[in-house]
Amino acid sequence: MIVLGIETSCDETSAAVIDDGKILSNIISSQLVHQQYGGIVPELASRAHQRLIVPVVSQAFHVAGINPQKINGVAVTHGPGLMGALLVGLSFAKALSYGLNIPLIGINHMEAHMYSNFIHDPKPEYPFLCLIVSGGHTQLVIVREPLHHELLGETLDDAAGEAYDKVGKMLGLGFPGGPIIDKLAKEGNPNFIKFPRTYLDAESYDFSFSGIKTSVLYWLRKNELLATDQRSPLSAQEGSPTCELLKDICASFQAAVIDVLVGKTVRVVKNYNIKNVAIAGGVSANSELRRRLQQSAEEHNFKLFIPEFEYCTDNGAMIAQLGWMKLKAGITSDSALNAVANLSLSSHP
Ligand code: KG4
Ligand code: ZN
Repeated sequence: MIVLGIETSCDETSAAVIDDGKILSNIISSQLVHQQYGGIVPELASRAHQRLIVPVVSQAFHVAGINPQKINGVAVTHGPGLMGALLVGLSFAKALSYGLNIPLIGINHMEAHMYSNFIHDPKPEYPFLCLIVSGGHTQLVIVREPLHHELLGETLDDAAGEAYDKVGKMLGLGFPGGPIIDKLAKEGNPNFIKFPRTYLDAESYDFSFSGIKTSVLYWLRKNELLATDQRSPLSAQEGSPTCELLKDICASFQAAVIDVLVGKTVRVVKNYNIKNVAIAGGVSANSELRRRLQQSAEEHNFKLFIPEFEYCTDNGAMIAQLGWMKLKAGITSDSALNAVANLSLSSHP
């Protein structure tokens, strides 16, 4: 069974082909146009998707060595995401499904992130806990059996990736800030500034990252180090005192975020006696989060599953993977499938 997966929910135009569980191609075109604005501009994202969708899908077929006539289904993200961006992928997928007379499979982007852990070996065993940490979401989900999950908690305000990106902007690091903070934090002192850890109440599995972000803002303001027009008083040559300070701020911010992510994950592991934990989403590419969770896995006796880097951030392969699983299970969508900007993990197309 061969499925094409299409992803256009945010700023990556991506398409992938899967053949009976084996990814044959995964083409990702990241839109660089947003960097100059320090964040994603929705209208520019839609226009870039329109320009890129045909070449990206063609390239996915070409690399896979598959003729479009050979595919058995087309899977597409229909939410959550930017409305205009989602509509480009969804309209394209509908046209392809109609033209080729094959099933359309609507995919929830967050659910697809969870199944990015099934693209390669080793795969998690059911039931498993998934920590999804992306630019728009932070969620703890228990997956009891294939395609059945229960949302335990999520962020009440900013997502973890969003906090990284906003702090990156305050530090004049460009967009997205996550990978740059990850790199700089490696050489910084995580105890330099004690930013607050927000655990909410003792039993909650929800998250809140806006407090940590605001603390960084106030600290930078107080010390006259806040970036303006994406230019920071801290941007300095490698080895200079301001550069060392930048690394310490990054490491201190990162430690606060990761303490909470790891703390809440371990809380679920203990309360639900979890043996398998997976992570997914862009922030799962973070080297310190990976290291800390690996440490916890040894300490609390659970197996940790982490997607390969290519499948952490947005990609078509995870859409194709979940599309293939759904098609095998006989779950398809009709042509009335709509784009839903705030699609929740519990709703089904
Ligand atoms: O999953 P994703 O590609 O898109 C969404 O669905 O939102 O996640 C993007 C997020 C961005 O906020 C980016 O800064 C963050 O993932 N990110 C990282 C790292 N790589 C990407 N955050 C921290 N450390 C990283 N290495
Ligand atoms: Zn994503």
